[in-house]
Amino acid sequence: MASFADFHTRSIQDRDAFWAEQAKLVDWKVSPQQICDYSNPPFAKWFVGGQTNLCHNAVDRHLAERADQAALIFVSTETDQEKTYTFRDLHAEVQRMAAILKDLGVVKGDRVLIYMPMIAEAAFAMLACARLGAIHSVVFGGFASHSLATRIEDASPKVIISADAGSRGGKGVPYKPLLDEAIKLSAHKPAHVIMVDRKLAPFTPVAGRDVDYAAERAKHMDTVVPCEWVESTHPSYTLYTSGTTGKPKGVQRDTGGYTVALAASMPHIFEGKPGGTFFCTSDIGWVVGHSYIIYGPLIGGMATILYEGLPIRPDGGIWWSLVEKYKVNVMFSAPTAIRVLKKQDPALLSKYDLSSLQALFLAGEPLDEPTAKWISEGLNGKPIIDNYWQTETGWPILSICNGVEKAPSKFGSPGKAIYGYNVKLVDDQTGEELTGANQKGVLTIEGPLPPGNLQTIWGDDKRFVSTYWNTVPNKMVYSTFDWAVRDEDGYFFILGRTDDVINVAGHRLGTREIEESISSHPNVAEVAVVGVADQLKGQVAMAFAIAKDTSCLTDDAARKTLEAEVMKVVDSQLGAVARPSRVIFVTALPKTRSGKLLRRAIQAVAEGRDPGDLTTMDDPAALQQIVDLIKS
Ligand code: PRX
Repeated sequence: MASFADFHTRSIQDRDAFWAEQAKLVDWKVSPQQICDYSNPPFAKWFVGGQTNLCHNAVDRHLAERADQAALIFVSTETDQEKTYTFRDLHAEVQRMAAILKDLGVVKGDRVLIYMPMIAEAAFAMLACARLGAIHSVVFGGFASHSLATRIEDASPKVIISADAGSRGGKGVPYKPLLDEAIKLSAHKPAHVIMVDRKLAPFTPVAGRDVDYAAERAKHMDTVVPCEWVESTHPSYTLYTSGTTGKPKGVQRDTGGYTVALAASMPHIFEGKPGGTFFCTSDIGWVVGHSYIIYGPLIGGMATILYEGLPIRPDGGIWWSLVEKYKVNVMFSAPTAIRVLKKQDPALLSKYDLSSLQALFLAGEPLDEPTAKWISEGLNGKPIIDNYWQTETGWPILSICNGVEKAPSKFGSPGKAIYGYNVKLVDDQTGEELTGANQKGVLTIEGPLPPGNLQTIWGDDKRFVSTYWNTVPNKMVYSTFDWAVRDEDGYFFILGRTDDVINVAGHRLGTREIEESISSHPNVAEVAVVGVADQLKGQVAMAFAIAKDTSCLTDDAARKTLEAEVMKVVDSQLGAVARPSRVIFVTALPKTRSGKLLRRAIQAVAEGRDPGDLTTMDDPAALQQIVDLIKS
């Protein structure tokens, strides 16, 4: 086993040789001519001249050796369904979906938007797009019509694939009305919508536009749709994520680099072996779901569990029962989910045979020590592996790589910089690199970003450069927008975002988007949304709003009524996932003399902390009002 330090050093200093070796883990129709073209920074092109296909690597290439092995295990505790698709079954289903898309005119480079619950058809849809070289854009099912509309408009999909409804806690959650509304709101109209009818929520199809999945599938039971070989740099998908401005960014991923990065991560980071089982509890609407429910495990020849349902229904043992039943080797979840389980009977953990499980990976938000300890004890000392990354990077930046060299974890730290990532901590004021131990700086990555990371922002190269590469003075480096320190052993500790992004239960949300939504309420003049620490969810959004007409705010009951109304607006526009935990009405918001909202100061006092330096504040009474309201 190589030492991790050597492995990492080689990945940076002998970059092309390192990645040429990793590229052997995937099938190429045409081998790459050049490993990395970084002649036009910060735009990196990986495996130039190579031709491959993501779906081929995830499905077809396994047919020779493991056609009858489980590939996709769909479990829904919402609808009491459980079905295993072998690689052969998956290959057939993906071709059926691809044939439907082809019939509707979808060709290489076309966009297909996927707005679906956690059902097997969502996996077929993603893989079918990859098969055709169409660019998918999955929108999280928890987003409502306004969020969906902005994504439809930006991605301009030829076809949308959706379903009548999702389900939560045994109750159907209709998708179709939100989708119809979103299409109405969007300037771009898709030519067709493929509807998977789960019979959870009746709907009326739009004539000429909507097609029924089951009826179309029946026409294509034996249709063969070959994989379309695409250039390595051909975009495989876009995935929208939040940033500082209200407009979500379409993170654009390539094909070859992403396939290689995921293929390499399976042995090196996750120690996942072909024939094993991977259980990632995320959602296909998030990056973790893209990489580690769908593509990573399948590329690695593993079975993957796609789970629809809550972690505590029928009881808090459901996930562990799946580990036992399907002999899960690698599990991947989020700290919030573990905090939810922590409230359940601990006996549920010892009830099942978890001997197959090698490790539990956690990502998406800080892993607090009590939660890490609880689950580590519950799993009898099995490794609990924190890993830190972003939608933009597509796979982990920081972790320990037990597949390269066994290393201990440190509580509170996601570990060290992973191979391929030239991570630097820099001073946000001077851009100077901070090389000493325990110095706080911005976590940045020197270009070229490794394979699998974003190529650009969909349709907006300028925004890609200005958003990520021009934020640190005197340096062109990629900013993660996270504060961090590194200790003397090279372990990093993440200290929170430098921008207006908040992290609610592992879901990344832009406070500006929430503010824009709240401002659309006719009686809201101005609003500030901040993230406030929360024991269960890590953070929750809290809104401080000024009403236009205060005459209605006569008493607490009246305030509650307006608060509920505002929450409803957010629910219907963005989705319940973005709903603030409180909307508190104030008469003024703290600002600088030049009129900039002092969000950091608001956040500090909302968390009961000292707001720090307030010399630039215009009206101290505004902040005092918030202090008093929080106290009361
Ligand atoms: O602030 C960091 C936090 O989540 C952000 C990225 O969120 P998202 O794009 O949704 O991607 C999640 C992929 C796992 C980061 O900028 N974050 C992510 N992982 C961790 C984390 N914060 C602390 N510890 C982590 N392990």
